[in-house]
Amino acid sequence: MIIRKSPQEIERMARAGEVVADVLALLGERARPGVTTDELDALADEFIRSRGGSPTFKGYRGYPASICTSPNDMVVHGIPGPYALSDGDILSVDVGVTLDGFVADSAYTFPIGEISGEAERLLEGCKTALAAGIEQCRPGNRLSDISHAIQAVTEEHGFSVVRSLVGHGVGRSMHEEPQIPNFGEPGRGPLLSAGMTFAIEPMINAEGPDVVIHDDEWSISTSDGSLSAHFEHTVAITDDAPRILTLARTAVTS
Ligand code: MF3
Ligand code: CO
Repeated sequence: MIIRKSPQEIERMARAGEVVADVLALLGERARPGVTTDELDALADEFIRSRGGSPTFKGYRGYPASICTSPNDMVVHGIPGPYALSDGDILSVDVGVTLDGFVADSAYTFPIGEISGEAERLLEGCKTALAAGIEQCRPGNRLSDISHAIQAVTEEHGFSVVRSLVGHGVGRSMHEEPQIPNFGEPGRGPLLSAGMTFAIEPMINAEGPDVVIHDDEWSISTSDGSLSAHFEHTVAITDDAPRILTLARTAVTS
């Protein structure tokens, strides 16, 4: 069952989402060559708590950190550690915040210093795929319209969609129904309606779609060693345009 949220509940999610957006903005400023992913995790944890929230990921199924940091060929769920960023890296950062009983979830892939043309195209392709998925979040569409739009844009850019990882409903829990694959035929699955809140999250690889899980049982990388990008927003379906809940307040009002 897809749990629909009241307008008041969506406002609470937007307040959690604003903290998530502010964390990502802060980390985007701090992610520079020489900085370790551990340092970014500590910054994020402190910032989230200073805003009255808690880091949703910490302790989730035993996850040991407050954010996920996944460099280069790592797709998602990288555990922060001693890894120091280098010029030319890309770094995917995933953040979840619980505030006032509701969760918001968002991810961004940051370029570190000067990156290759291929890496730039990958980031651009993934952002565009996320935007296309969000654009489908309208009443009357079906769930797989989101999936299809993400796959179409990704493949137009010459990249591939990871099959084994999905977006998801989000609300009082980080993971609610439905699962939202990033590929598929359009026009399938449940009808979308106002009040549904989804974490849309394309994970795309520069080359093949296959992934491997590491011995830490969390981090996931591309099988072929190619670069991977991940962009995610928490989105509410409304009677008209989709509302992105993981934006900074400044971005909404400007
Ligand atoms: N955005 C990710 C997801 O939706 C974050 C989960 S990381 C975890 O699955 F550590 F909390 F599992
Ligand atoms: Co998510």
